[in-house]
Amino acid sequence: MTDYILVTNIAAHLGQEVELKGWVSNLRSSGKISFIEIRDGSGFIQAVANLAQLSEAAKAVAEGLTHESSVRVIGVVTKHPKREEYELQVKSIEVIQRAENYPLGRKEHGPDFLLEHRHLWLRSKSQWAIQRIRNTIILATYEFFQSENFIKIDAPVITGVACEDTTTLFEFEYFDLGKGYLSQSGQLYLEAAIAAHGRVFDFGPVFRAEKSKTRKHLTEFWMMDAEMAFFEHEDNLKLQERLVCHIIRAVLERNRAELVLMSRDISKLEKVSAPFDRITHQQAVEVLRARGSSITEDLDLGANDETLLAQVYDKPLFIERWPTKLKAFYMKRDPADARYVLSADLMAPEGFGELIGGSQREDSADRLRERMLEQNVPLDKMQWYLDQRIYGSVPHSGFGFGLERLVSWISGCEHIRETIPFPRMIYRIQP
Ligand code: 4AD
Ligand code: MG
Repeated sequence: MTDYILVTNIAAHLGQEVELKGWVSNLRSSGKISFIEIRDGSGFIQAVANLAQLSEAAKAVAEGLTHESSVRVIGVVTKHPKREEYELQVKSIEVIQRAENYPLGRKEHGPDFLLEHRHLWLRSKSQWAIQRIRNTIILATYEFFQSENFIKIDAPVITGVACEDTTTLFEFEYFDLGKGYLSQSGQLYLEAAIAAHGRVFDFGPVFRAEKSKTRKHLTEFWMMDAEMAFFEHEDNLKLQERLVCHIIRAVLERNRAELVLMSRDISKLEKVSAPFDRITHQQAVEVLRARGSSITEDLDLGANDETLLAQVYDKPLFIERWPTKLKAFYMKRDPADARYVLSADLMAPEGFGELIGGSQREDSADRLRERMLEQNVPLDKMQWYLDQRIYGSVPHSGFGFGLERLVSWISGCEHIRETIPFPRMIYRIQP
């Protein structure tokens, strides 16, 4: 390997001759000067080739460059007179592989074309920025949980039981053991681990056979579940506030350039601070009906309701105490009123939808069994889950975020399919 440097470290090399390796992401020429934008993975830089000053060989290369050819460039690092931007004054340039007729970028493309070329679309600036932001969110999540004394527990992807709504299960034959399912959430397994470790989280792919073609749903997405012993409803929400604020701060600190590339209104992110607003499901229904929604007290929010709420609240919003009938069997009922559970969904501002689903968990074996029977949860396959309530049960709570929902909101990307490298949706499995 030669001693090339990365664009992200360019400032330290001001005035020096350096070597860069990357791809030609844009090209412009004024006849005498070629402006070659290079993407090297870590960032973008403009290489300026003054053709009269190049050797005949280098000049021929510079004149014959094509979009997305891979190149090796040697030049001197200079600084833009006004902006915090660096340029490379080209001394020599060499093509590693010449790309012919790169299909993207010469004109505006529709979403189908882009999705069919996802493997190339990932190279575009907005897509590059989104993945960098995603990476920061993942890292910040790990940092946060380590600092709060959690350990990571890896839940299985292949499971024998449903965690959430059985209508969205991907199922298959599992050898001679009957049906297997792709995990919808690692939660149930994390609940088992809290008696060993107290506070745990997982982070991995989960699967939902969502029949809806919305801009907020994928069939494969990444979920982070957290589960905490001795945490009650209130503690659960406070932890979520701290986590979301930590993530936002990390992205604001580390991904300014990416947010600018996304034309993200940064002031909206800077405003996010704890405590978040809170309303009950019942209150949400009132607010929504007053704004023309047809939602009732026994209904989940529709996509339109999420948009309407975002017009009223400009910070993340917890919707608490949902009707028991609408929510999963594991949620603890409100001791004051069993028609409601001690749950909360965290809604993103600006209409980006539900970021987090969470609740205090039912910790009594008897009450849990009752709820499982009501909801046709197979008790025989879930004795292991009931065991947690038999051997040292404790009050506990947890929550899960959808990584792509967070990326959508924070990067300001309207469609969730752009927030995961290779999206899986009901109408797409390629590339
Ligand atoms: O609200 P959900 O279904 O909650 C659970 O799965 C719990 N077991 C989590 C827990 O308590 N540990 O899903 C959690 C989050 C949602 O708030 C949403 O952000 C995201 O996962 N999500 C989806 N993201 C993309 N595509 C889908 N089809 C999603 N379904 C849920
Ligand atoms: Mg939910």
